[in-house]
Amino acid sequence: MSAPDEGDRIRPARRRFNAELEWDALDPDDYCRRNYEIIHENDAAFLARLRDFFSWKLAGRTGLHGVDVGAGGNLYPALSMLPFCDEITLIDYSRPNVRWLQERTTHYSEGTVDMAPWRQFWNVLIEDPAYAAVPDPWGALRKCARVRRQSVFGLARGRWDVGTMFFVAESISASTGEFRSAVSGFIDALKPGAPFVASFMEKSEGWRVGNRAFPAVSVCDSDVLDSLGQEAEVHELLRLGTGNPLRPGYTGMILVCGTKNPGHEGMGYED
Ligand SMILES: C[S@@+](CC[C@H](N)C(=O)[O-])C[C@H]1O[C@@H](n2cnc3c(N)ncnc32)[C@H](O)[C@@H]1O
Repeated sequence: MSAPDEGDRIRPARRRFNAELEWDALDPDDYCRRNYEIIHENDAAFLARLRDFFSWKLAGRTGLHGVDVGAGGNLYPALSMLPFCDEITLIDYSRPNVRWLQERTTHYSEGTVDMAPWRQFWNVLIEDPAYAAVPDPWGALRKCARVRRQSVFGLARGRWDVGTMFFVAESISASTGEFRSAVSGFIDALKPGAPFVASFMEKSEGWRVGNRAFPAVSVCDSDVLDSLGQEAEVHELLRLGTGNPLRPGYTGMILVCGTKNPGHEGMGYED
């Protein structure tokens, strides 16, 4: 991954709210190339935690329904749910991202050039036997992925058994209120007791794809915990500094592994 240059520095975006932003101007190929072409040390560390957490919480379970909210140009959260799910819904609001996800989950296989970066991520997952037991991850993804254009602000409640949301809540507007609504929209969409993993850019000044700038809410670990409030039990919070930064304008990355607090309805999980 090349070092960021000054041209990458984010200028403040004029528009602040999610509904004002040009999500259909996103270029998922550029996004993917900037962020995932070569696995970053922080993504590798997050992926290992994600793998170990799901492997522990979901040991022996199959046939679950998973969701990745704001999936965008990233397949590793979906891959992390593969051994346990027979259906994984990939949700994004941006039409180009939805098309990108549809292409990669309907036609692509091991030999497809565009899938090569994702082999690096799968290689981290297969260090755990639950993942190593999946013989053809791309075929499994083709079978269970359902791509939907939807907003995190309008998800059905109590629907999914397991979920992920990576770099979304803090990166889809400049509004703290929308950051908090996105976190609770994601948690509300899960069944009581469902395990989830979510990640956040720390103190982000915004991000860029192609020549478009997108704003962010500057959050730290206490803001993330605060946004989860009483809705979830946090099992682990991991904060990593930038190390070799992907771009200027953030101070680190935060990962949270948790379970939705059991309510009165829905199914529960045993530890
Ligand atoms: C910073 S990107 C993160 C993408 C990906 N999850 C990752 O880990 O790299 C934020 C994503 O949120 C999506 N998004 C923006 N507004 C949304 C909304 N209201 N509901 C769901 N997704 C949204 C964008 O299209 C984009 O794919």
